[in-house]
Amino acid sequence: MANKPVYLNGHYLPIEDAHISVLDRGFLFGDGVYEVIPAYQGRLFELKAHMARLDNSLAGIRIGNPHSLDEWRDIFAPLLQDGTDQYIYLQITRGAAAKRDHLFPEQVAPTVFALSSPIPPYPARASGIKAVCLEDSRWQHCHIKAITLLANVLLRQEAFEHGGAEAILIKNGFVTEGSSSNVFAVIDGIVLTPQLNPGILDGITRQVILKIAEANHIPCHAQAISIDDLKKADEIWIASSIREIVPVVALDDQTIGGGKPGPVWQTVNRLFQAYKHSFR
Ligand code: PDD
Repeated sequence: MANKPVYLNGHYLPIEDAHISVLDRGFLFGDGVYEVIPAYQGRLFELKAHMARLDNSLAGIRIGNPHSLDEWRDIFAPLLQDGTDQYIYLQITRGAAAKRDHLFPEQVAPTVFALSSPIPPYPARASGIKAVCLEDSRWQHCHIKAITLLANVLLRQEAFEHGGAEAILIKNGFVTEGSSSNVFAVIDGIVLTPQLNPGILDGITRQVILKIAEANHIPCHAQAISIDDLKKADEIWIASSIREIVPVVALDDQTIGGGKPGPVWQTVNRLFQAYKHSFR
């Protein structure tokens, strides 16, 4: 096959030949969920955690998981054959019904689509980024990794138009998460990140950071962070698959940590990179 294949409903085919119906509920309603799973030199990173979250997302929108963990692993393997650093984008929608109707269709198989893409270099990780605080305008079920990302898209675009690489979202005066990341703040030497609740995604990078911090005796708590505390933080990071742990060195018009990645980030990033390399 000349082109790198993608996976669609049981078949591997060139992306040009991968077609879905215009009646697919992902297209019509954003009725689906997704995962982004890094694979370092062909080895899937934290696959079980990603698949556990997929289970939760599917349960949250009442779609049965069409595959077991081993079946998913087998589905992804041919997409990762070249052994470089890639990520899998997996999307499952409620499928294509015979007509557009808000109600769930009966006896319609979900649409399952997966492709792999190279993990691009992210030089801003070393220098840090600017983030922009915006009001969190999203729905109340952000623990579901839904493909319905219009609010996230608008927020990210707004941040970009204010010179930011990420929007840090604020609800009722407290940080929720980034438009496509979780948020950490170092305050008085303690690493803080908001507790899990339906307003944020249970990020796998967040999970790994908490695990690394505990194993290395770095004080770290899941705790509410007010906007005032965020502004006083010594360090702020955003965390997500692909971008990994990124220092925020400017927040709106304010400099954070003297405009440079801080020492706690240096330590945690080093430990994260070592953990990641152990997966290769
Ligand atoms: N997004 N919160 C939101 C809203 C996200 O979209 C993401 C990741 C995260 C971090 O989750 P994880 O560490 O599991 O990647 C938190 C992915 C990368 C995306 O939408 O492309």
